[in-house]
Amino acid sequence: MKRPTAVTTIESFILEQERQHPQATGELTNLLYDVALGTKLVAAAIRRAGLVDILGSAGDVNVQGEEQQKLDVFANECMKSALAAAGRVCVLASEEDELPTQISSGSEARYAVLIDPLDGSSNIDVNGSVGTIFSIYRRVSDGEPDIMDVLQPGNQQVAAGYVMYGSSVMLVYTTGAGVHGFTLDPTVGEFLLSHHYITMPETGKYLSVNESNFPRWTKGAQKAVRAFHGERPEVMAAKNSRYIGSLVADFHRNLIAGGVFLYPSDTRNPKGKLRLSYEANPMALIAEQAGGAATNGMTRILDIQPEELHQRTPLVIGSKKDVEFVVDMLRNEPE
Ligand code: AHG
Ligand code: MN
Ligand code: MN
Repeated sequence: MKRPTAVTTIESFILEQERQHPQATGELTNLLYDVALGTKLVAAAIRRAGLVDILGSAGDVNVQGEEQQKLDVFANECMKSALAAAGRVCVLASEEDELPTQISSGSEARYAVLIDPLDGSSNIDVNGSVGTIFSIYRRVSDGEPDIMDVLQPGNQQVAAGYVMYGSSVMLVYTTGAGVHGFTLDPTVGEFLLSHHYITMPETGKYLSVNESNFPRWTKGAQKAVRAFHGERPEVMAAKNSRYIGSLVADFHRNLIAGGVFLYPSDTRNPKGKLRLSYEANPMALIAEQAGGAATNGMTRILDIQPEELHQRTPLVIGSKKDVEFVVDMLRNEPE
C-alpha cells in the first residue's frame, strides 16, 4: 500500500480515475459521490445516536424476519434520498425493502444500485462498529427498469464498496482498478484519500467466525476452524480470533491486516446467513481487487447467478491462501 502525501478528496480522485478511460462520461463519478453523501448523512446520525432517543428497535420486522433498529430505517432513507436525487439510478434495492424501488425510467438513469444501508445493526446499542455496503451495476433493461437490473451476477458490478462507521469513518471502494480507502475528515466533511491501492496479504493472522455455530457446521468447516486454532501446525499456522458480528468491520480488519472471514452454512442456516447481492458480492469484488478471494465453498461468489433479491449464501472471504484452505476442507467433507 502506497501512502499519499498530497490531500486528495474522493471527488477529485474518482474523477481522475475516470479521466483515464476516454469513454467515461463522469456519470459513475457523480453516482459514487451521491453514495458518499448518503453515508455522510448516516455517519452524522450514528454519531448522535447515543445522545438522542433513536436507539433501540423500531418494533418493526424487515423482510428477513429480523427486528429492525431505528437507525436501519433512517439509514435506508438517507441512502435512498441521496441516490434518487440526480436521476442517475433506475432502480434501487435494499436489505430493508422487500421489493426494489423504481427511481427513474429515463435513459439517463443508467445504473442499478443495491445497498445494505446499515450492516451489523446489532452493534448499535453497544456503541460498536457498523457499516453501509453498496453495489453498482449498469442497467440492462430497455424502457421500464426490471428486476433483472438487480439480479445480475457480481462479476458484472461496475463499482462496489462500503463505509465503516468505526473509530473514524472510512469509505473503501473499487471500480475494478484497485481498492482505495478514504477517511472522513469531520472538520471539513470530506472523504480524503488515506489508503491507496490496498492489498491483502496472501495469508492472514486473523480468523473471523461466529464460533457458537460450531456444533451445527459440516465436518469440513469444523476441521478448517480447528486447523486455524493451531491443531495442524504442519499445514496451517494458528490464527488469532477476532469477531465483532458486523461484516463490514470484520472484513475491513482482515482487508487491512490479513485474515479470513467465514459464515458457512449450518443446520439452522442451511443456505448461509449473509445476503448474496448486497453483502457478499460487493465484498467479494473488493477482496479480489485487493488480491484476496471469496467463495461459497464451491463457486466463486462473483460467478453465482442470483435467483432472488434477498438470496442468502455461505461466505468464505479474505486472504487468498486461507480461503483456498477452507475450500479444500469444505469440499473434502461437505456433510
Ligand atoms: P445486518 O445488520 O445488515 O442484518 O447484518 C448482520 C450480518 C453481518 O453484518 C454479520 O457478519 C452477521 O450478520 C453476524 O451474524 P451473527 O450474529 O449470526 O454472527
Ligand atoms: Mn448486513
Ligand atoms: Mn443491514
